[in-house]
Amino acid sequence: MKGLLSAGADFRRAGRPWIRHRLSPMSRIRPKVFVIVPAAGSGERLGGQVKKQFLLLREKPIIVHTLQRFEHCSDVDEIAIAVPEQSIAEMESLVSHYRLHKVSLVTVGGVHRQDSVANVLRKFVFRPSDIVLVHDGVRPFVEPKRISQVIRACKEHDAAVLGVQPKDTIRRSRGGEFFEETLDRNALWQVQTPQAFKASLLVKAFKNAKRHRMYATDEAALVERVGVNAKIVEGSYDNIKITTQEDLELGRLILERWRTKGLL
Ligand code: C5P
Repeated sequence: MKGLLSAGADFRRAGRPWIRHRLSPMSRIRPKVFVIVPAAGSGERLGGQVKKQFLLLREKPIIVHTLQRFEHCSDVDEIAIAVPEQSIAEMESLVSHYRLHKVSLVTVGGVHRQDSVANVLRKFVFRPSDIVLVHDGVRPFVEPKRISQVIRACKEHDAAVLGVQPKDTIRRSRGGEFFEETLDRNALWQVQTPQAFKASLLVKAFKNAKRHRMYATDEAALVERVGVNAKIVEGSYDNIKITTQEDLELGRLILERWRTKGLL
């Protein structure tokens, strides 16, 4: 919970640069866009000793593929990454090797994904009107044009999230033995990242989560708890989260297809 505690305190510190930036005509025109990439999971099951975010997808670590999507999106200004403490040096050398110029911070993550995001949130210096995106480190197939779409929707609605509609019929079962109810597929969405928020709103949501000792699997859920519903931006089925061996194999196929289509 330490990360959540300090998120508010650091945001107050972020108030000082607001005064500084106020004088710049450019900053009055466009809010800056920051990206937080939580990549501090311990997921070693997939790769034995290697954490899954550092597994190679063809010749490059998954986390590098992910970061390059944001590096190549002209709407993104700065990127910060949370990694396990023992991976900080490795991450820093990847940043310099692959010339990821937008990465301004590599820091340590927390116990849960939410703690990792909070750790970065309290270290970034931004203004209340800036935009903060959160994107899973193990989601390497988000197209820069979709990142831009989420940013645009966030500017209008304060919160925006990529999602796709499920292709399968979804049924509910409480006991796990028999199906009880078929859900209306048209009303269901599989939620992806990036998720984008006005900075002041995200900080408010994290403060509220801290106050209520609430943990969620994504930031949109925390923001809902302070009364804001994120705008849905239609995503792509390629934007998978690499969790299992099957995902890794699927990831290799997607990468080949992207290469053939000249998307990389
Ligand atoms: O575990 P999950 O699939 O939700 O992880 C999504 C992302 O959050 C991954 O990139 C993972 O490395 C990251 N994560 C983190 N800190 C944790 C747990 C997960 O940054 N404590």
